[in-house]
Amino acid sequence: MPQLGTTAEARTEQWARWLQHRRNANVWSYSRVMSSSPKSTTIVANERNQGAKHYTNFGSQDYLSLSGHPRIKEAANSAVDAYGVHSAGSAILAGRTNVMLSLEQKLSELLNKSACIIYPTGWAAGFGVIAGLAREQDLIVIDHLAHNCLVEGSRHTRARLSFFGHNDLDELRQILATERERHPTKGIFLVLESLYSMDSDSPDLKECIELAREYGAMTILDMAHDLGAMGHSGRGLLDSVSNDYWPDMIMGSFSKTFASNGGFVAASSNVVDYLRCYSPSFTFSNALSPIQTKIVLECIEVIYSAEGQAMREKLFSNILRLRDGMMERGFTVGGTPSPIIPVFVGNESNARLTAKHLEELALLANLVEFPAVPIGKARFRFQMMLNHTDRMIDTAVDLFSQAHSRAKVEFESLARQ
Ligand SMILES: Cc1ncc(COP(=O)(O)O)c(C=O)c1O
Repeated sequence: MPQLGTTAEARTEQWARWLQHRRNANVWSYSRVMSSSPKSTTIVANERNQGAKHYTNFGSQDYLSLSGHPRIKEAANSAVDAYGVHSAGSAILAGRTNVMLSLEQKLSELLNKSACIIYPTGWAAGFGVIAGLAREQDLIVIDHLAHNCLVEGSRHTRARLSFFGHNDLDELRQILATERERHPTKGIFLVLESLYSMDSDSPDLKECIELAREYGAMTILDMAHDLGAMGHSGRGLLDSVSNDYWPDMIMGSFSKTFASNGGFVAASSNVVDYLRCYSPSFTFSNALSPIQTKIVLECIEVIYSAEGQAMREKLFSNILRLRDGMMERGFTVGGTPSPIIPVFVGNESNARLTAKHLEELALLANLVEFPAVPIGKARFRFQMMLNHTDRMIDTAVDLFSQAHSRAKVEFESLARQ
């Protein structure tokens, strides 16, 4: 067992040394400071707010560029005038506004559920739906690449966790069949994402729901990344199946497409009423502010209109342009087309050096490395926004290619030393 140390300093000392090492080598590209809105070009400085310059930005999550849409800004301003700037309480107490009620109703309608509960963040929604419903005696069957909020929510319950290989439906079937045979009355939850955020791929939803029904499992789907931004009606993966195959509990985040913090769970009225009292990240946390709530409500109006449909089409053509450009330069691009475009660089050393050169070349794309992804599977996660122009996309491909070549040369020279 490693010694943890009896003081906070002792616990963090080794990490601090490692971090300093990376900072000294200019290969720590996190916690940067932005001093403009999340636009397709943005002003960025390092974590100490030094060296601010303009970057071509493929690192922000604002898929339909709604954070700067005039109608959304106007809605935010009107919410400030009507409600002030703070909800000032948990939504189980005095923090729930009539705007929040409208948002709950709107999302329930969109997702064909009888009720909906709004959380302060998407993370809180993912954590809270599982922590609220599952108990120690249950089994949680969860995709190996599920987001941290779903895994932490599961761990919180102390229920047994069974991870199946990413999108591996044969293994999923095997687990469900074995467990159901051994434990005929056990509560089983099947937890999935509609678009996996590091790999940009999706499960076969119809088959997953059929399996869950066959073996009596409750289903939870996290739709953080595709709801609003993908699918012919803007309902992401749900658009790929008929209504009969929609999961029991649909969870989402507002932070990728809906220009705000916050998240939700849409489900039956009883489940939602229960979560209001038993979901710790809802019950014991301050409600989403009326400004943010109003922003999401207005975003929904835009997203589920003809304008929203046109936005999704343009976003999709941007996505294909970047993916094709990267592949033409010989890069491996992961998953299927979505606003998340993972470009693989393999080992961590190369990846960190590429990140350093990207900074110098003023291209913002987030490096994702272990422990967010397995060792040796480092990648850059490009995130597409509606307002990216063809020119910006082509520039991103060029700059990435240059950064990668420079990193290779530097790596080889370091290896020779
Ligand atoms: C799949 C998934 N679920 C949940 C979340 C958490 O959402 P939020 O950032 O809105 O708290 C994220 C965010 O990265 C995510 O990727």
